[in-house]
Amino acid sequence: MDLELSDEQRLIQETAREFTDKEIVPRARENDRNHHFDLELIAQMAEQGYLGAIVPREYGGAGLDYLTYGLIVEQVGRGDSAMRTVVSVQTSLVCSAILRWGTEEQKQHYLPKLCSGEWLGCFGLTEPDTGSDAANQKTRARRDGDGWTLNGAKMWISMGNHAKVALVFAQTDPELAHKGVACFLVDTDQPGFQPSTIEGKMGLHGSDTASIALDDVQASDDEMLGEVGEGFKIAMSALDSGRYSVAAGCVGICQGCVDESVRYYKEREQFGRPIASFQLVQSMIADIVVDTDASRMLVLRAGYLKDSGKPNTTETSIAKLYATEAAVRCANTAIQVHGGAGYVDDHPVERYFRDVRVTTLYEGTSQIQKLIIGRAATGINALA
Ligand code: CAA
Repeated sequence: MDLELSDEQRLIQETAREFTDKEIVPRARENDRNHHFDLELIAQMAEQGYLGAIVPREYGGAGLDYLTYGLIVEQVGRGDSAMRTVVSVQTSLVCSAILRWGTEEQKQHYLPKLCSGEWLGCFGLTEPDTGSDAANQKTRARRDGDGWTLNGAKMWISMGNHAKVALVFAQTDPELAHKGVACFLVDTDQPGFQPSTIEGKMGLHGSDTASIALDDVQASDDEMLGEVGEGFKIAMSALDSGRYSVAAGCVGICQGCVDESVRYYKEREQFGRPIASFQLVQSMIADIVVDTDASRMLVLRAGYLKDSGKPNTTETSIAKLYATEAAVRCANTAIQVHGGAGYVDDHPVERYFRDVRVTTLYEGTSQIQKLIIGRAATGINALA
């Protein structure tokens, strides 16, 4: 698709494409097979400015707009969803929250280290019994002298084992429901912060996914992000950025499915002729192309709205819903184009299929995106 990108955006897009092909793609299969969380590659992505792309330069970021950030994430997502998850969590969930809600001191303290990759961050919202109903936090924050003591458990936390700083959402007063939630910038180097790896995932084997026990974890007032009662809004606004990033990564998977399917389609012969001569196969490729284009358009619109400072929660949910579901379809169809060869990891479509499945679950399920979209369209809150 020919887009009206600026020269700078095109250059950044091209550089991200080259970086992905040279550094990410060649390591994706082995990292997946070995369940290897590739810290060396993460450091290289940090050097490229991918971990703080939307953070202003004064705080150590690349100072890019959302549209350009989306172009980078698309490329990384095409290469390896595990690495794309790192970029999304670090940049969209952690950095964007600190940037929007942090004090000047907090921004100066955390952002340069997060952007440089010296520190990794994680986003501790989901709990064993609190997924879609994110306002219903069971983790408790108790006032303790001058600070806070946190107790509870978090679940499905990307980078939970490696993060130096964890955004931990906790309830200060259950009677206040979402208005009692606070967000803390927890230093993970304390004994009460106990992450453990979640084993047996279907995909994202190169990603660090943890459950975390919080046992008398300490946080000072200076480590609270925003005010008591703002925690839920902090989470929702960060997810507006995170869902955009997930959607952009899924555009990359869709594009990868197009590229891989077209390559195979041209090479493979059956019945004494190239499969390229069979219309039924070409029809499958057309389906992937349409899903890729439609997803990309929706992501671009969401990015444009973010850069314009206009409301974009609904449009972000539309992009997230469509692009993630489309990427699941595309990966499934791309395997079909490959036939039996698509069932083993000689071709990336096998990994795409396993890795993409989580995208309709994390950062808000498809049903949660529909709830947000339906609310906006009807003005009726189906949860009330
Ligand atoms: N930005 C800022 N504020 C927002 C907001 C947004 N996008 N959306 C809602 N709010 C505010 C509302 O304005 C409201 O404010 P007031 O109290 O002042 O009126 C408040 O938040 C409560 O809003 P709702 O009434 O809409 O809240 P709700 O309880 O009905 O929940 C929901 C809405 C959409 C279901 C929400 O709970 C939700 O998104 N759930 C899914 C959670 C999710 O995505 N979890 C994934 C976690 S991250 C992850 O996957 C792990 C990882 O490491 C990758």
